[in-house]
Amino acid sequence: MMKTIAVANQKGGVGKTTSTLALASAVANKGYNVCLVDLDPQGSLTLSLGLNPDTLEKTVYNILINELTVDEVALKIGNLTLLPANIDLSAAEIELLNEIGRESILSDILKTISNRFDFVFIDNPPSLNLLTINSLVAADGVIIPIETKFLGLRGISLLLSTIDKVRKKLNRNLEIIGIIPTMSDNTVMSREVLDELKSNVDNITVYKPVKRTVKVVESSVAYKSIVDFKPSSDIAQAYKNIAEDLLKWQKNRA
Ligand SMILES: Nc1ncnc2c1ncn2[C@@H]1O[C@H](COP(=O)(O)OP(=O)(O)O)[C@@H](O)[C@H]1O
Ligand SMILES: [Mg+2]
Repeated sequence: MMKTIAVANQKGGVGKTTSTLALASAVANKGYNVCLVDLDPQGSLTLSLGLNPDTLEKTVYNILINELTVDEVALKIGNLTLLPANIDLSAAEIELLNEIGRESILSDILKTISNRFDFVFIDNPPSLNLLTINSLVAADGVIIPIETKFLGLRGISLLLSTIDKVRKKLNRNLEIIGIIPTMSDNTVMSREVLDELKSNVDNITVYKPVKRTVKVVESSVAYKSIVDFKPSSDIAQAYKNIAEDLLKWQKNRA
């Protein structure tokens, strides 16, 4: 059964897009059919895959407003399928506001492809808006990247309580799969944030931290996931280990 994973944190620059692409690639490289949904109007995920968001005429926006089907928008890039985004998506927020069932529009759309994919990974915008809520309603599980630096934990309780509300009111299936501490280094600060994080979240898996490395920036320049760019690096291995956990989670939930 297809499993949908939302990668979310309303803070920007915490590693959502990097983690979405790395985990999706790692899972796709294992032979699974993976669809990526770019739900950020900035189109960073789309850009990471080598496409210029500004020149795209068909995006996830057109699907959300019921203008085009998934097939009309989907792009095949290597072993991944992408529903790309660009700035058009920022209009969706307002346009969908008066729709009946506005929180479950993405969920309904993804149901139409559930027999064709094993996994859907949704990259979210840096906000807790209607787009993010749509992704939480569509998801079976959430992955939360948290930057291990000063103020990195700020906003996490709001995110967790939002997830809780969505679970109670809109999507009883929603599970927090785990937290990925990102951009960790050997500073005292990084370790302190990690310790504080672990002591603050009791029942949530905290994965082994993903280290800060220039390889991530190099991989973006090469338009590749870090997993494909430097497969044997520590960071690729860290993401591959988390991907293994996702596969186990999928099997247990099936
Ligand atoms: N482990 C890492 N080491 C170094 N730079 C990273 C790492 N992870 C992400 N980055 C960089 O940090 C910036 C923000 O990451 P990104 O994944 O775009 O975050 P978000 O999607 O949450 O805004 C990007 O420039 C990205 O290349
Ligand atoms: Mg992003």
